[in-house]
Amino acid sequence: MIPTESILKEILSEARVVEKYLQKTLGQLQPHVDDQLYEVLEYGLLNGGKRIRPILVVLAARLCGSAGAEVYELGCAFEFLHAATLYHDDLIDNSDTRRGKPSVHKKFGTVAAVLAGDFLHAQSMSTVGRLSGQHGLDIFCRATKGMVDGEFMQLRNAENHNLSELDYYHAIMGKTGLLISAACEVGAVYGGGGEQQMLALKEYGNNLGCAFQIIDDLLDYLGDPGITGKSVGNDLAEGKMTLPVILALNAAKGTDRNRMATILADKNLRTESITEICDLISEYGGFQAARNKAVAAVDQALAALTVFTDPNIQTERRILEGLARYVLVREK
Ligand code: IPE
Ligand code: IPE
Ligand code: MG
Ligand code: MG
Repeated sequence: MIPTESILKEILSEARVVEKYLQKTLGQLQPHVDDQLYEVLEYGLLNGGKRIRPILVVLAARLCGSAGAEVYELGCAFEFLHAATLYHDDLIDNSDTRRGKPSVHKKFGTVAAVLAGDFLHAQSMSTVGRLSGQHGLDIFCRATKGMVDGEFMQLRNAENHNLSELDYYHAIMGKTGLLISAACEVGAVYGGGGEQQMLALKEYGNNLGCAFQIIDDLLDYLGDPGITGKSVGNDLAEGKMTLPVILALNAAKGTDRNRMATILADKNLRTESITEICDLISEYGGFQAARNKAVAAVDQALAALTVFTDPNIQTERRILEGLARYVLVREK
């Protein structure tokens, strides 16, 4: 089921509030940092991200019953860390475009991208510690450590054309799922959630994060770069084994399987080979099968929210449900 118009409006209106807080938080930093650093921060942060992670922090806190005035600031810390990972990720992935513009390392150079990412990382940790205490900070740091681990796993996976579905899930949970689930959990800590609420939000976040990255990996093949704001075909160029490829390889036999493996091993891919592998993935149902896995993960995310039965928080629950459904239909 797709999210209703009114839920999408609620999500967009939350994103607008997050946007204001991001501007405010950056503005407060401006007098204290180098002008060039500020330029890099502003360029990489105020440029049309979907703001999913801060929205999750805010809604999870409200779902747990309380969201004090600083909840948006806490949410912004998650966007800071997310931006930091994108600065570094685009460098690692050789991605030239992000949110429809040159990526930070393309525009300002490698050194600026690395240093500004480190700055945002430190800034976000300090905010999360201040607002959600040691417990929140532990969850946050577990996610950041898991991201690095997931990226290392992905590096190793790129060499392995027999990659299992399970190895893929391990890598995406590390690089994407943990931060999304940490946003929900830290929101719950801030909101004073009990153990059952914390566990439910963690489960929601894990499944949402998994679906989120599967769809990202589908968009890398099937998306419109004018809408995603990122170049298409980058994962293949980088030799990343993502779910559509893994599932198509599992289904393919004989010459088709060998042909796919040859294309995947090719370091200098030509346009014809890219078209050929896309046709093979499609023929063996890889795109559809990957989408089905994302749908199953979203179903599990929705099921996790059923513990939230209090009539006073049903609006928040519906928005979180809508956000999970939105992930399946998102085009950017
Ligand atoms: C991109 O995240 C990186 C992934 C984890 C797939 P988003 O799709 O949330 O990126 P923005 O912030 O909306 O640009
Ligand atoms: C995102 O994975 C992982 C991060 C930690 C940012 P991708 O490499 O697929 O993200 P995009 O496609 O570049 O946004
Ligand atoms: Mg990338
Ligand atoms: Mg991607």
